Parts: sequence; structure tokens; C-alpha cells
Amino acid sequence: MAQREHFSNKLGFMLAAAGSAVGLGAIWKFPYMAGSNGGSAFIILFILCMILISLPVLIAEFMIGRRGQADAITSFKQQAPGTPWYLVGYLGTITSALILSFYSVVGGWILSYLVRALLFQLKSTESTSYDTLFQSIIQNPWEMIIAQGAFFLITIFIVQAGIKSGIEKASKIIMPALFIFFVILAIRSLTLPGAMEGVRFMFVPDFSKITGETVLLALGQAFFTLSVGISIMITYASYLGKNENIAGTGVNVALMNVFISILAGLVIFPAVFALGFKTDEGPGLVFVILPAVFEQIPLGNFFLIIFFILLLFATLTSAMSLLEMVVSVVVKDRPKRRVRVTWLLGLFIFMIGIPSALSEGVLSHIRIGSQSIFGFMEFLTNNIGMPIGALLISLFVGYYYTTNESKTELQTKPFFYTMWIVSIRFLAPIAILIIFIAGIFF
Ligand code: PFF
Repeated sequence: MAQREHFSNKLGFMLAAAGSAVGLGAIWKFPYMAGSNGGSAFIILFILCMILISLPVLIAEFMIGRRGQADAITSFKQQAPGTPWYLVGYLGTITSALILSFYSVVGGWILSYLVRALLFQLKSTESTSYDTLFQSIIQNPWEMIIAQGAFFLITIFIVQAGIKSGIEKASKIIMPALFIFFVILAIRSLTLPGAMEGVRFMFVPDFSKITGETVLLALGQAFFTLSVGISIMITYASYLGKNENIAGTGVNVALMNVFISILAGLVIFPAVFALGFKTDEGPGLVFVILPAVFEQIPLGNFFLIIFFILLLFATLTSAMSLLEMVVSVVVKDRPKRRVRVTWLLGLFIFMIGIPSALSEGVLSHIRIGSQSIFGFMEFLTNNIGMPIGALLISLFVGYYYTTNESKTELQTKPFFYTMWIVSIRFLAPIAILIIFIAGIFF
């Protein structure tokens, strides 16, 4: 059997895991979810859900992966032979493919914006506001399919190169660059006249805004943003040597994610208030606000281009992890197949994603329940695939592993272990069951 590739060091793994986690969830979804669901109330709940539920499940996935040293399905088969636990790996694989099918649509939006910025065409005029511009872009069928296809091509190219040369190298550059750029942008946004209203919106708690629905959405966001519940982090951790500190890595990844989410909020909300936009703009929020903020900056178009390049990379590192998950299941320990499998699966998922790409335009009349195709895919993965996966993973590590096994795997201080095991055995499963049931019936 070929020697299994490993990340070259702890930093490489952390950046790759953070690369999967930090993406559209933090930069695109977090601001619009917070904007439409009470600002500070949502943010507080989101942070609580991260610490109490999503982070413990992330650590559980790391444990399964490092112990298994194989793709998610094989890891479950080895650790629970003769039981159906390996189906969790299949569920994760299907959910990953479905997420990628609509995630790539937003990847396509970014590419469209980037090309327009490069052509100096990303400007509002008297008759076209940024809002109208956004709508006209996402309703144009050919542009959407070509942009989504281009996004897939880039993702496939990186994933076929394999774990170390592709994923790790890319993440090492992108994450720090993204961070620095966000700090600069946040400073610009915060110094606009009237910006403090946006800061108040984010940080002055208004508990009257907390409803059952906000709790559910915050928990869903905490899962999505950390990429947990679909065995991706099992797959990544399987490339990890036995001596890495997984608890510490998990905490760092979660911290980085909260940090980038809050930074994205600090770029968006001060500008929303200063420039007179609405917070509940929905999925277009970032695409409508950012060009308007850059207009306020000298050399704005140039910075806008750099920004979209960074956003594209952050999105790619997450998309890569989604494709890697599916590819690793098929490639198993036969790396020779990797290139062919990556192309075939990439093209297949692209085709599944086309209806989502068209769902805001020519296919907008198709509704599943009250949702568009894009919305339905999001619902299916966020409200069904991810919670079921996360629930089963927490039950597996919480109850199938003996206390001794989980202690040995986690190798951490007793206090941290107690916190983690309480969450993984009780808090996480109960909370997930509640969101799962509520997410389906309300
Ligand atoms: N965590 C990614 C983001 O926030 O953009 C999205 C994602 C990637 C979700 C990978 C799930 C996943 F397995």
C-alpha cells in the first residue's frame, strides 16, 4: 500500500482545517444572517453555539480521523467493525456534494464580480444601484452557468494535485492575507461618518430579539461555518500524525472563524449604516455593500479586485475540502486514480448545481415548498444532512468510544476533557435534536 501523505506540520494542518472552515460562511453568510436576525442577539447566540456545541463536535471529528488514518467511511469501518456506523461517512459524502453544488453558485457570483471589477464595470449609476446590479447578474443564465463552471474548474485543478502540494500550500498564503486585508477594510468602514450605529447594532445586546428561530439559525450557522457534521474534518485529520494536539487545533480553528466573522461584520455593518443601506438585504448583502464601501476609498477599484481575489480564495479553500471529501471516498488508498476521479466527480457535482445557479433567474418559478432550488439545497444540507451527521458523530464519540479511549485520543487537561465530554454526550445531541426537529417542522 502506498505511504499515506501527511500534512507537513501542525501549522499546515491547522491552516487547511481553517481554510475549510473560513469561507463564505464567515464572510458572506454570517453578515447577512446577523443583519436579518437582530444583529447582536444573533451574534451572542452564534458564539455560544460555537463554544458549547459546534467546537466539541469538530474535536470529535478530528479524533475519529486521526485515529482512523483513512477516509471517513473506512475510519468508521475500522473503529466500529460490523456495525452500520460507516453510513455516517456516506451521509457526509452526499451532504458534501450537495453543499458544493450550491456553494459553487456563490463562488460563481464572486468570479462574475471579479471579472467586472477587472473590466472597471462594477459601478453604480443613477439608474442602476448596486442592488439592481446584483439582481441582474444573478438572473443572467449564461453568465451564472459559465461562472459556476469556471469556479469548478479551479477547484478541480487544486484538488487533483493532492493534499500537500495543493490544499496546504494554498491555505498558507490565503488565510493570513485575508486577515490583513479585512483589518484594513474594517478600519475604513469604521471611520465612515455614522459608522458607530453599525457597531452598536453588532455589540449592544437587545435580548428582545432572541426568538426560537434565532437560536436555530445561530446553531445552523455555527455548524456550517466550522464545516462540521459531514465528516470533512474526519478526512482532513486522517492526514494528521499521531502526536498533534487536536483540542488546541480545534480551539484555534473556531477562534479564527469567529474572528473573521466578526471582522466581516465590522466591515459590513458600519458601512451599511453610514451609507444608508438596510441590514436585512439577505444573500446579496455583501455583494451590494462591498462595492459601495470601496467607492469611498482612494484606488477603490484596485482594492476591490484584491478583495474579490481573496474572497475567491477563501471560498476555494472551503470548496476544495468539499470536493476532497467526496474524492477521498472514491480514491481510497489508490492515489493513481486521483486525477480521473476528481474530474469526473467535479463535473458531476457541477451538473447537479446548475439548477441552483439558475434558480434566481430562469428557474425562479420552480418552488419546492416555499423555497427556490438554491434555498432548498441549503435547507436540505443545513437543516437535515449536517445536523444528523453531527448528532451521529457526537453519539459515536460520546458513547461508542469508551471513556478511556476518548481520554487517550484527546490527550488534554482533565478540566477541558470534562467540558468536552459533557457537551459531546449531552449538550450537543440534545441541542441538535431540537434544531433538527424545529428546522423541519417550523
Ligand atoms: N465552512 C465553510 C464556510 O463557512 O464557508 C462551508 C463548508 C465547507 C461547510 C465545508 C461544510 C463543509 F464541509
